[in-house]
Amino acid sequence: MRTVTKDNITDVFMAYLAEDTDPRMREIMGSLVKHMHDFARETNLTHEEWRAGIAFLEGCAAIESEDRHEFILASDVLGMSSLVDMLHSSPEATSSSVLGPFHVSGAPALAYGGDMKRHYGGPLLLAEGVIKDTDGNPIAGAELDIWQTAPNGLYASQDAEQDTYSFHALMTVGDDGRYAFTTVKPIEYTVPSDGPVGDILRACGRHPWRPSHLHYIVKAPGYRSLVTEIFPNDDPYLDEDTVFGVRDDLVMTYVGKPASDFPEGMALSGSITEPFLYVEFDVTLVAED
Ligand code: BEZ
Ligand code: FE
Repeated sequence: MRTVTKDNITDVFMAYLAEDTDPRMREIMGSLVKHMHDFARETNLTHEEWRAGIAFLEGCAAIESEDRHEFILASDVLGMSSLVDMLHSSPEATSSSVLGPFHVSGAPALAYGGDMKRHYGGPLLLAEGVIKDTDGNPIAGAELDIWQTAPNGLYASQDAEQDTYSFHALMTVGDDGRYAFTTVKPIEYTVPSDGPVGDILRACGRHPWRPSHLHYIVKAPGYRSLVTEIFPNDDPYLDEDTVFGVRDDLVMTYVGKPASDFPEGMALSGSITEPFLYVEFDVTLVAED
C-alpha cells in the first residue's frame, strides 16, 4: 500500500504482515497496534509527547540490570502484571498476586516450625496453614517458597547489610499439608522510585507504597504453581497498593496472642516471653489441566 493515511495506517500495518504469520502473533500484534494507533488518534499525541514515551523506555533500559528490573516495575505500577495474573488465575484456587523483582531462588530449607527471622528483631509473627487441593485434602510434599523484607523495609537483594537469603526460606510440607514458621511482621515499603517509573508515579500524583505482605510461591507435582502474597487487614495501604496486588482472599487478620499461647513444636517454643502475632492462611492449589 503506497497511500498511507492516519485513518488507514492500522489496516496497512495488518496488510504488511506475512500471510503465514502465526495466528496468535497476528492477533496480538494486530490488537496491540490497533490500540496504540487509536490511542495516538484519540489523544492527538504530539511529537514531544511520543518522544517522552520513547525516553521513558530508554530510561528503563539504561538502568535495567540483574538487580534492577525497571520494565517489570513499569508493568507492575501500570496494572499489567496484576491484570495478566487475574486473567489466568483459577477461581477455585487461592488468588495469585505479583511476584515482584526481589525473589531469590534457591533459598535454604526451613523445617516445619522454623524461625525465618533468625537474629532480626521486631514484632514476632507466627504464620501457619495448610496447603490443600480444591476438595480440601492436604497436598503432601507441597513446597512453599517464602520471602519478605527485613525490618528496614528492604529485601536481601536490595541491601548490602543482609546476606543473600535473609528472609527467604523453602519449606516442604508433610502428609498433613501443614506449614508453620516464625518471622518478624513485615512492614509496608516503597517500590523503587528513583528511576523513570518513579517519575511516572510522581507525574500522576501517585505514591510508591505497597501494603506489608509475605510472599509465597507454592508448588506441588500435578498442581498449578501459585505465586501469591498475604496482607494484614489493618495495613494503611491495603486500598492503594501501587502495584494492584491485593485480593480479598489474601487479606488476613493478624491476631495478637499472649506468650503463653505460643505452641509446642516450633523452633522458638519455650523461649517466647512477649505477646506475639498469629496468622492462619491456607492455600488452595488447582490440579494441572
Ligand atoms: C514486591 O512485592 O516485592 C514488589 C512487587 C512489585 C514491584 C516491586 C516490588
Ligand atoms: Fe514484596
